[in-house]
Amino acid sequence: MADTLTPVLTDNWGDERAWTLASYEARGGYRALDKAFSMAPDAIIEEVKDSGLRGRGGAGFPTGMKWGFIPQDNPRPKYLVVNADESEPGTCKDIPLMMASPHTLVEGVIISSYAIRANKAFIYIRGEVLHVFRRVQRAVQEAYLAGHLGKNIHGTGYDLDVVVHAGAGAYICGEETALLEGLEGRRGQPRLRPPFPAVAGLYASPTVINNVESIASVPSIIANGHQWFASMGTEKSKGFGIFSLSGHVKNPGQYEAPLGITLRRLILLAGGMRDGHELKFWTPGGSSTPLLTAEHLDVPLDFEAVGAAGSMLGTRALQIFDDSTCVVRATLRWTEFYKHESCGKCTPCREGTWWLVQTLSALEKGQGSEADLDMLLDQCDNILGRSFCALADGAVSPIASSIQFFRDEYVAHLTGGGCPFDPALSTAWAGQEVNA
Ligand SMILES: Cc1cc2nc3c(=O)[nH]c(=O)nc-3n(C[C@H](O)[C@H](O)[C@H](O)COP(=O)(O)O)c2cc1C
Ligand code: SF4
Repeated sequence: MADTLTPVLTDNWGDERAWTLASYEARGGYRALDKAFSMAPDAIIEEVKDSGLRGRGGAGFPTGMKWGFIPQDNPRPKYLVVNADESEPGTCKDIPLMMASPHTLVEGVIISSYAIRANKAFIYIRGEVLHVFRRVQRAVQEAYLAGHLGKNIHGTGYDLDVVVHAGAGAYICGEETALLEGLEGRRGQPRLRPPFPAVAGLYASPTVINNVESIASVPSIIANGHQWFASMGTEKSKGFGIFSLSGHVKNPGQYEAPLGITLRRLILLAGGMRDGHELKFWTPGGSSTPLLTAEHLDVPLDFEAVGAAGSMLGTRALQIFDDSTCVVRATLRWTEFYKHESCGKCTPCREGTWWLVQTLSALEKGQGSEADLDMLLDQCDNILGRSFCALADGAVSPIASSIQFFRDEYVAHLTGGGCPFDPALSTAWAGQEVNA
């Protein structure tokens, strides 16, 4: 069983000024690039395919296979777009990665662009994180000055320009086709598929869109070989990943480990739960993945096992809630987020998330009856799988799963005329008026 940490992407984060080119190169940075340039682009695609790397942005689509979908006979330019929008509640790995070691991402961008024969790449960063935007911009500038970007890189004849783009700050712009709309200067709303971005993406040209962590994993795969990567993880979920522990553990933070590690092990590595408290519920991959409970502490955190347990690995955003947390309150707050972030393009999500908030907030105040709980589940049924994109599916995940595991707690709100938790002892109300 996987039980140790495997720092690869996070290995240099503690170095003195790790984000600078000098620090990155002192550790062998940009050497994988020369190895990549000695290989044919298709051989790099094969290497990434053989490694078993699956997208780290949530869905887990095989990265090498995605690159292989780019039609090389299409005369239009090819583009690489890095999805650095990271706005899911709980997800907090790409931003630290870009702050600590932006050159890992830039080197990955160059190798990946070379593999798919793109001469232009974009890094789309969530607009609110100006400090991250500046750091990545500076890293790109350093890479240009050092000859890692621009014309005739390392004397190979290969040209690549990288644009660092600041989004305007909307969760939906992390959805890859809404991101492309935003990049083209339009309102961020998802596109109808097909055509898929690999065929007609940015400016109707073949486009690969990958998560920051997916692209940042590429230099280490090229440097160490696909067998090295595939030797970690589980049968169908290879390699390592950053597990972000937040909430009620003693040492929240980023824990890079092979896929398949368990939450039990990660909580131990994070110093355990807060003193005097026990695990109540957790999200395996951010708020859009169904909640799990203490029963699931030994589920291997890989795509298959978490799926079999009824949830999704998602972005490995492990939000940990102890017994002081009101699950109804936490679910309401997530639902308010989804209502706010619904882009409004389709009715089930635009209207449905509004209704979810109405029903949930009444239940949280102890108003209504058990029939309203069933109405809430009915509202979820009318949204799940009936909306234009996965934002709406994510919105119903915490509701349906919290009712599945904690129906009694919802009923206790109704029978007790409000929340049974003491707001003074619970973090779920921090900064909020209770039962307002
Ligand atoms: C509402 C919504 C938000 C998303 N936000 C992100 C995000 O911030 N970053 C990300 O990489 N993928 C996000 N995704 C997933 C992307 O659509 C896409 O699957 C991903 O960028 C592909 O990269 P990967 O194959 O490397 O995982 C989001 C999806 C949805 C539906
Ligand atoms: S599901 Fe929601 S976010 Fe997605 S297109 Fe419809 S309204 Fe927009």
